Amino acid sequence: MATAYNKMRADISTKHSSNIDLRSDTVTRPDSGMFEAMMAASVGDDVYGEDQTVNALEEKAAKLLGKEAAVFVSSGTQSNLIAMLTHCRRGEEVITGEQYHVSVSEAHGASVLGGIAICPLQTNERGSLTVDQISAAIKPDDPHYPISRLLCLENTVSGEVQVPEHMLMLCRAGRQGGLSLHLDGARLMNASIALEKSAAELVDPFDSISLCLSKGLGAPVGSLLSGSNEFIRIARRNRKLLGGGMRQAGILAACGLYALEHNIDRLAEDHANAAILAEGLARIKDLKVWQQTNMVFIELADDHAAELQASLAEQGIVISAGFPSIRLVTHLDVDSSDIERVVDSISSFYRNR
Ligand SMILES: Cc1ncc(COP(=O)(O)O)c(C=O)c1O
Repeated sequence: MATAYNKMRADISTKHSSNIDLRSDTVTRPDSGMFEAMMAASVGDDVYGEDQTVNALEEKAAKLLGKEAAVFVSSGTQSNLIAMLTHCRRGEEVITGEQYHVSVSEAHGASVLGGIAICPLQTNERGSLTVDQISAAIKPDDPHYPISRLLCLENTVSGEVQVPEHMLMLCRAGRQGGLSLHLDGARLMNASIALEKSAAELVDPFDSISLCLSKGLGAPVGSLLSGSNEFIRIARRNRKLLGGGMRQAGILAACGLYALEHNIDRLAEDHANAAILAEGLARIKDLKVWQQTNMVFIELADDHAAELQASLAEQGIVISAGFPSIRLVTHLDVDSSDIERVVDSISSFYRNR
């Protein structure tokens, strides 16, 4: 068995070592330490609450986020959906940002499955909302309107760290209007590292938080939804209702525990690599470049994204093709020599164009 395992590890590393994949921080693969943690995990039936590894992960996450409890779920989308279903009833609404993931990339699951309206507000260039926008969006108790129930914010937003004092003001405005507060903290730990503030401090004003393990933290699967004991009790019911009750999930939770133990502080490396990448690309004439935490954006003067993508693919560099801007994301499978290679390849593409 050990031989088969070693062969699998060797196959995985040869297969992927040559490619530099900058499409997202979701593309990372478990390293050998994470694989070993998975193999050593003690498991049980988590729907019965008997998986010790899941229980340990949930306790660790709750502590990290300064809340009473947490529940391990399959994805960030499921985590946000469970949060919205737990906070809101049919006919109620979630006030959020128009560019936030719950607005644009989760198929409006809360509306489709929960009869919950989504009220998207225009976000500014920093990915933020304003107090006035939130106050104006909270509806009076009038049968013409949905009942405003939840404010859902995000941090980071497209890599942009949200200013804690501003988040606090937004939360106060929501609270004053009688809203519950949820944070989509898919990349909360990137914000925490960038600000040098604890995650618990950043999420203190919120009732619930969703934290992804499968992005910069490098686990293959999973998110944690955290909040009060009572909130998480109902969230567990909603997880089951959505078909998200997992059995011997300790195998996956072991990766999450490993990620929380080993991969938080190292996010600083991803941020540093992104800064070096941005600096290198900013030297290219006519390319507008900006960087936030582990994300670099390049704005193209005309639409040659597919051409750039194809040229880089020939050199083993994988990017998404977007227009007017392309997002390049650093993560634990990209090191500083990869960054040099990317800068060289993109620079040479523009020299020869
Ligand atoms: C901000 C944010 N929230 C939630 C999600 C959803 O996570 P998942 O892909 O695990 O469903 C993502 C995914 O990229 C995200 O960027």
